[in-house]
This record gives sequence, C-alpha cells and structure tokens, in this order.
Amino acid sequence: MDNYEIITAPNPVLKQEARPVDKVDDAIRRQMDRMLTTMYDAPGIGLAANQVGLLNRVLVMDLVTTRSEEEKPSPIFMVNPQIIYESEQMSVIDEGCLSVPEHYAEIERPAIIRVKYWDYDGKEAEIEAGDLLSHCVQHEIDHLNGVLFVDYLSSLKRNMILKKLQKLKKANIL
Ligand code: NI
Repeated sequence: MDNYEIITAPNPVLKQEARPVDKVDDAIRRQMDRMLTTMYDAPGIGLAANQVGLLNRVLVMDLVTTRSEEEKPSPIFMVNPQIIYESEQMSVIDEGCLSVPEHYAEIERPAIIRVKYWDYDGKEAEIEAGDLLSHCVQHEIDHLNGVLFVDYLSSLKRNMILKKLQKLKKANIL
C-alpha cells in the first residue's frame, strides 16, 4: 500500500471544507489505513483527509510517537467528527502540522472537549479528550473545515510562514 503524498501550504485544498461521509465502507477503511501509514511515516500524530487531497470528513491520529518495541501503536480513526462539548477552561500547546513543515506556534484552545464520531467499523462513538489529544482533535477537525493553525496567528506572522513555504516549494525542497 503506497503512502499518500502530504500536501503542504499554501494549497487551495487545505482551505476547502470537506464533505460528510455517507457511510464507513471498505473504501473509507482503505483510505484510513493508507492515511495512517502516511502519518506514521511522516512522522506525525494526526492527519486529516484534506492533507492528502481528499475532501471527506475523515481523520486519523495516534499520540504514541516513540514507536519503541514495547509501546504499541494506538490509532484513533474518526469519520464525521463533531465536537459536542468544549470546556470554558483553555489550554495552550505548541502545535505543528505536517502541511506546515518546520513551523510551530503556541495555540490556545478549549482544554477539554467531547467529540462524537463514527469509528473504523462505522459505529457511533464518543470520547472526552484533554491535553494534547484535545488539541490534536480540534486541529484535525479544523483541517476538515479548511482551517490551519497558522490561521490563528496574526496575518503578519501567517504570511511570513506561507511565503517561506512558497519559496521552498519553488525551489523544489518541499
Ligand atoms: Ni495539521
């Protein structure tokens, strides 16, 4: 199974809203498998469909990045994820993104969320997420809505980052 190519900013597909999935079938499961290996190889802790050029509401995550022999991967697959609760308390975490390589920024988001979604088998599922997982889920759902973490920065900072990435693209480094 070949990996997908990860699309980097600036690219219009990263600014588009992904469509809801009708049902979780084998084609969607193949997409999730392929997104997961793409994410592991990158390596990253989350990947949304937009980042591989697909505009459906699918995302994969795994916070286990050490990949030591003892630590088993624990992938999370979400189809049509929906945030149904956000805490008033906020938290700040340094975020990065496979589509915005080599740039990081402190982003403030609700510290705890509840999210409803369809799992790998198409069953309805719900989890409460805090800390890094909370940020990760919100970051990935943002992707499905065409939003990047740099969109939370001042336009000055954002444009500087996007210009740098554009230059690397032109030089064929990305
Ligand atoms: Ni991202």
